[in-house]
Amino acid sequence: MELLKEQIASQGTVISEGVLKVDSFLNHAIDPKLMEQIGKTFAEKFSGDGITKIVTLESSGIAPALMTSLNLDCELVFARKRKSLTMLDKLYTAEVYSFTKQQTSEIAISKELLSENDHVLIIDDFLANGQAAFGLIDIIKQSGASIAGIGIVIEKSFQPGREQLEEKGYRVESLARISSLSNGKVAFIEEG
Ligand code: G4P
Ligand code: NA
Ligand code: NA
Repeated sequence: MELLKEQIASQGTVISEGVLKVDSFLNHAIDPKLMEQIGKTFAEKFSGDGITKIVTLESSGIAPALMTSLNLDCELVFARKRKSLTMLDKLYTAEVYSFTKQQTSEIAISKELLSENDHVLIIDDFLANGQAAFGLIDIIKQSGASIAGIGIVIEKSFQPGREQLEEKGYRVESLARISSLSNGKVAFIEEG
């Protein structure tokens, strides 16, 4: 997606070999025009797939997921990172290990919000090691719902997330694919 790549190039900051900061439009501030186009682009890719529900993870997944659900005219649910201990029996939960933070956290979705009748599109802001995506997949499977694919705003293709998801047979659609963050520069995988 050209507009997204332009904004990454002009506003993104390479923090290290492995981390890209995009606070000005995705992780701290939100650019609504960009988000609108992100939603349209995901919707075009998955239109006709019978998606009933978008599932994402709070917080940065919510904006792109919302715009996609608006365009696909489907429901939206976001997994929460803090569990409500009193409601544990009413939740699907999964553990997610963050390599960035080097800690495991629990994510949860209320059992009322996902069912075996759902055909789910997973949306997230970043794909790195794929831990968040696999946690969401775990939860969706517990509900008996099926998974149409995974839509990612920014994929770090030099990290193993995409490959591992594809190995398991999942369709991954990323709007910007970064091949390297070496030497303080963002390099994209160019696609035809
Ligand atoms: P993984 O899910 O792909 O395995 O990634 P990881 O554990 O490393 O990611 C932890 C958090 O950092 C996630 O956000 C993820 O979206 C984000 N992240 C990973 N790599 C980058 C990067 O290069 N740049 C930025 N800006 N974020 C990255 P989170 O903790 O769930 O936070 P949020 O959704 O509240 O923003
Ligand atoms: Na994030
Ligand atoms: Na995220």
